Amino acid sequence: MQITYAMNATLMNYPPLEFMVLITMGRIGGTLTMYGPQALLGYVGLAILTVHFTIPTIYYLMAKDWLSRDWGVRPSDDRDPPFVSIIVPTYNEAKTITEKLSDIASQDYPRDRLEIIVVDSGSIDGTLDRVYDWIRKHGDVRVKVIEEGVRLGKAHALNTALKYAEGDVVVITDADSRWFPDSLRRAIAWLTIDGVGAVSCNKIPRHKGNVIEEEYRNYYGILRIAESKKYSSAIFHGELAAYKKDLLLKIGGFPNYLGADDSHTAGLITLSGFRAIIPEDVRCIEYVPSRGYWSWRIRRAQHLVQNFSKLIGMVLTNRAKPPSDYRPVLFTEAYLHLVNPWLFLVGTALVIASAIQGALLPMIILLISLALLASRFFRTWIVTQIILAIAMIRNIWNKELVWRKEEKD
Ligand code: GDD
Ligand code: MN
Repeated sequence: MQITYAMNATLMNYPPLEFMVLITMGRIGGTLTMYGPQALLGYVGLAILTVHFTIPTIYYLMAKDWLSRDWGVRPSDDRDPPFVSIIVPTYNEAKTITEKLSDIASQDYPRDRLEIIVVDSGSIDGTLDRVYDWIRKHGDVRVKVIEEGVRLGKAHALNTALKYAEGDVVVITDADSRWFPDSLRRAIAWLTIDGVGAVSCNKIPRHKGNVIEEEYRNYYGILRIAESKKYSSAIFHGELAAYKKDLLLKIGGFPNYLGADDSHTAGLITLSGFRAIIPEDVRCIEYVPSRGYWSWRIRRAQHLVQNFSKLIGMVLTNRAKPPSDYRPVLFTEAYLHLVNPWLFLVGTALVIASAIQGALLPMIILLISLALLASRFFRTWIVTQIILAIAMIRNIWNKELVWRKEEKD
């Protein structure tokens, strides 16, 4: 009983958790145990959690090794710059579209080698007025405007725009994102390499301050570059996604049967034998919503889950054959997104159940985990597992192919 009090005292800094610990301690009284069915339950839980944490750790170590290797290919600036069609899909982007167009126009890429295609799906906030205003003031930039009367989703709009694209290269960029002046030039330099079919960017959040978002970026940003060096990034970003147009047409345009137009297009191009990469020097700025952060995270997780389910389904049923260097990337990422979150939830539930019944080892591990919650990375990891699980459940009834516009500032 004395031990119990000592433990409680150190946990005072975590009020809500301390509550949980108190319940645990209260229940057990003097009956701490290492054996019996309740302890066994906890050991099974611990084994499951060990798998949950070991696989991503091994993958991260492998990724570190890929990261230290050479690209094997080199970007080239001296080729004739290809003609580029930059597609900006808009739904209610009046707040950001003017700045977005100016941002594109200020790229250090030859003006006469690019066109902008704005495809709008029935915005009701005056987005198109802003677009026409901007065009009037910038006669030196080629802009096409496509008005889709009804909103059928981003991928549908991209396919409509694709029909009007004259470039050999098609670049997608969200209205609420920004580039650096060299983003386009650097992306194109990589894209023109033989064997590369698609290029995307490293995301830099616009506002520092959301720690969960930042932590999420550091870890995942490294994985994206490492996977790219190995063969292809498992995830692509709509802030800047550049594709060779002939490959886009070969895979049938943008997928409109699921939500991850960016990552899934990159996946399909990879399965057709071309690399989809995120090089270190291509950067873009992402706007993170100020309100609706959680529903935004869940929706994006839903789209990623749809992407990996589809790709892994194609491979497991032999409808597609991944390039051998891409296999470890696709298989591990599919596992991490679709299976691993459940191991966390089940393992944790078993450990808690067993600790409450007085099993000593699960209880100690549980207390250590509570202390680990002080680490930002650990918290972020857990939050991500929960979001993925919610996303998988939510996908059952709503795929979010046409989604709510979140406020960003
Ligand atoms: N034309 C058109 N029609 N554009 C649309 C539609 C639509 O139905 N829906 C969204 N858009 C546009 C938005 O105006 C924005 O320019 C871009 O598509 C991305 O939409 P956001 O609402 O800003 O979504 P996000 O910030 O979560 O975007 C991220 O996740 C999406 C998938 O979940 C990005 O990574 C996107 O590229 C990605 O598609
Ligand atoms: Mn956005």
